[in-house]
Amino acid sequence: MRETISPARAIDGVITLPGDKSISHRYGMLASIASGRSTIANYSTGADCQSTLACMAALGAKIERQDGSVVIEGGLLQEPAAMLDAGNSGSTIRMLSGILAAQAFTSRIGGDESLSRRPMGRIIGPLTEMGARIEARDGKFPPLTIHGGALHGIDYQLPMASAQVKSCVLLAGLFAHGDTIVREPVRTRDHTEIALREFGAEIEIDKRTICLHAGARLTGRELVAPGDLSSACFFMVAALLLKESSLVIHGVGLNPTRSALLDFLVSMGAQIKVLEVHQVGGELIGDLRVQSSPVTGGVIEGAMTAALIDEIPALAVLGAASHNGLTVRDAGELRVKETDRIATIEAGFRQMGVKIETDPEGFHVPGGQNFHAAQIDSAGDHRIAMAFAVAALAADGPCAIEGAEAANVSFPEFFGTLRQITQT
Ligand code: S3P
Repeated sequence: MRETISPARAIDGVITLPGDKSISHRYGMLASIASGRSTIANYSTGADCQSTLACMAALGAKIERQDGSVVIEGGLLQEPAAMLDAGNSGSTIRMLSGILAAQAFTSRIGGDESLSRRPMGRIIGPLTEMGARIEARDGKFPPLTIHGGALHGIDYQLPMASAQVKSCVLLAGLFAHGDTIVREPVRTRDHTEIALREFGAEIEIDKRTICLHAGARLTGRELVAPGDLSSACFFMVAALLLKESSLVIHGVGLNPTRSALLDFLVSMGAQIKVLEVHQVGGELIGDLRVQSSPVTGGVIEGAMTAALIDEIPALAVLGAASHNGLTVRDAGELRVKETDRIATIEAGFRQMGVKIETDPEGFHVPGGQNFHAAQIDSAGDHRIAMAFAVAALAADGPCAIEGAEAANVSFPEFFGTLRQITQT
């Protein structure tokens, strides 16, 4: 599907966003293994989170929609009748594999073409250490055949910054004999730790070391998924780029392991105000006001790269229009996302006549550049489709985003919401 985006004057409006993708996956999985009933309000509308629910339903969880919430009756999982389909979702296959590894049955899980190219050695390693037996295509790619069974806790040093791998090990640890310890090289999003506590697990956190105590009994909960800050980021960048913009975003997730985005934007001179903050289910939720402002540019590296990993496509667009440009380092992980995002950002920029230098671990986009009208291919990657739709608003003529339907993976309402708040 092609979306045509015309140049715009400003972004103006008040919006609320569907639930956070990362949090929705975790709530969907934990509610399905917890005993009793859970209600999840504002569950993500993205296809990825629907893949998680479809997998959990295939594993025996009873899942219904009631008044806009997802209602889940959880308990013991059952052997699925067919291969589980994670679609495009790395979070689904990696986190759910942790749960499957501990079940008394064999299951198969795979996904679409993009997912089938993504590395799974990073979860096969620790799960095998815990006692699971997993077969993968070429030893490391989906589909996976997971022969579940009794697991034992391990003390695991994560070799890379990955919340999905951390979560996979912790979810397996829920069913293991003995405590499970995960040590992170840098802090990554901690939604699993927060959600595990909410559902009743005992978990201790000391800086970058997480210890999950064995023998947890999870019970159903009433939960609310905060609005997705990674989805909000596209509109925030649009508001910063277009002069005379003013945007209010209600009820967005402000968990400190995600909100480095706000610190980074503010450090570049962005006018962003946090209007109100409260806590729901251990997660911070607040309202944001963003006003157009020139930004200086900056460097994203080290721990900051892990904290901003999903926002980099949108930030690259802002970087090209910034004063000094944007440099991204230590970002080899971008090459194994839904697409090789360093390559797909580069391809989109080249189409728009925007200069970029890339290397295996990152890129540099010089500042002060203009976006030229072009046809840009999403390459089937939701964040590439949305980032270039934002760049198109600031272009010198109408742009076509090919494969725009990729946005459905995390944010089906994206193009509709963008039209609502765009002033031409
Ligand atoms: C996620 C973790 C990150 C992120 C992904 C969601 C999560 O992936 O890019 O969109 O929900 O835990 P990695 O764990 O591979 O870094």
